[in-house]
Amino acid sequence: MVLAHKLVKGGERTLLRHHPEETDFGVQLAGKHPEVMAEAAVIGVESGAAFIDLNFGCPIDLVVRKGMGAALLRRPTKLVEVVAAVREAVDVPLSVKIRLGYSQKELNCVQVALRVEEAGADAIGIHGRTRNQRYRMSADWALIDEVARAVSLPVLGNGDLLTCWDLERRRRETCVESFLVARGALVKPWVFAELHEGRPLDPQPVERWSMMRRYLDLAREHFGDDEQGMTRVRRFFLWHLGFWNRYYPWQEEDFLRTAPESLLQARNPHPPDDPQWQLLASAEEADHERIWERLLAGEHPVV
Ligand SMILES: Cc1cc2nc3c(=O)[nH]c(=O)nc-3n(C[C@H](O)[C@H](O)[C@H](O)COP(=O)(O)O)c2cc1C
Repeated sequence: MVLAHKLVKGGERTLLRHHPEETDFGVQLAGKHPEVMAEAAVIGVESGAAFIDLNFGCPIDLVVRKGMGAALLRRPTKLVEVVAAVREAVDVPLSVKIRLGYSQKELNCVQVALRVEEAGADAIGIHGRTRNQRYRMSADWALIDEVARAVSLPVLGNGDLLTCWDLERRRRETCVESFLVARGALVKPWVFAELHEGRPLDPQPVERWSMMRRYLDLAREHFGDDEQGMTRVRRFFLWHLGFWNRYYPWQEEDFLRTAPESLLQARNPHPPDDPQWQLLASAEEADHERIWERLLAGEHPVV
């Protein structure tokens, strides 16, 4: 997410940097002024964005208090003006991300989606929660389905897709055909392969260390090997470890038992009695530091 008003003033440029192999690279913009958003979209396209996405779902106080992100769900006319202005400014595919509404009492996603379609967007991503829910409760897929039935645009359903069973269920129970996955990819970077194959994958520790090492190599390439770059690499790496350690080999029974609640809050109560699995499942900061130092030193498997 790039703040449009900062981008047009020359800021946020590092967020536009991407790997040459990232041909599907897109830029997501947040802002409330149609002309500023349009100018930012042009900068995004000039910087190589293959598509533009507009963020009307961000629930963060700092963003909402300034009238951006999900705040615009309360001002649908302004929201639509932004969509129309960006549509006018760029030719690349334009998607719009919304939530169900601002609060349970303001569930206006169907009306907003219809107006967004009229304003010329090419797709609508919808996170099945309200702004006030943020990440609490389960995503409401019945309402996402209502949006998908109301508009002719592709709707990208979003919320709590963590396993192949979640995807199978949403495909079966709704008419949504496209999906967005966020936290599942933070916990299991291989989730997309799972969803494609329709079965859980269970990478063993040696593969998981290699994935971490690969992340580290790419992050170093991206941020740079100097002190400033490495400070950022370390910060991001430790942040990711906070998600990676939550993985355990979810089975269909886990899915059935916890559904419709998210498995994200669940932790493996009994990781295998093996030092590598124990370390990979550890939420302790000291263990995360240890993993960072060992991987950085080229020592992996870590245990
Ligand atoms: C750490 C984090 C950062 C996020 N950043 C963005 C963002 O920049 N733009 C956006 O549209 N959504 C963002 N989201 C929300 C996700 O795209 C998604 O809508 C939400 O997490 C629900 O999907 P999930 O259940 O698959 O996680 C973020 C979520 C998380 C957890």
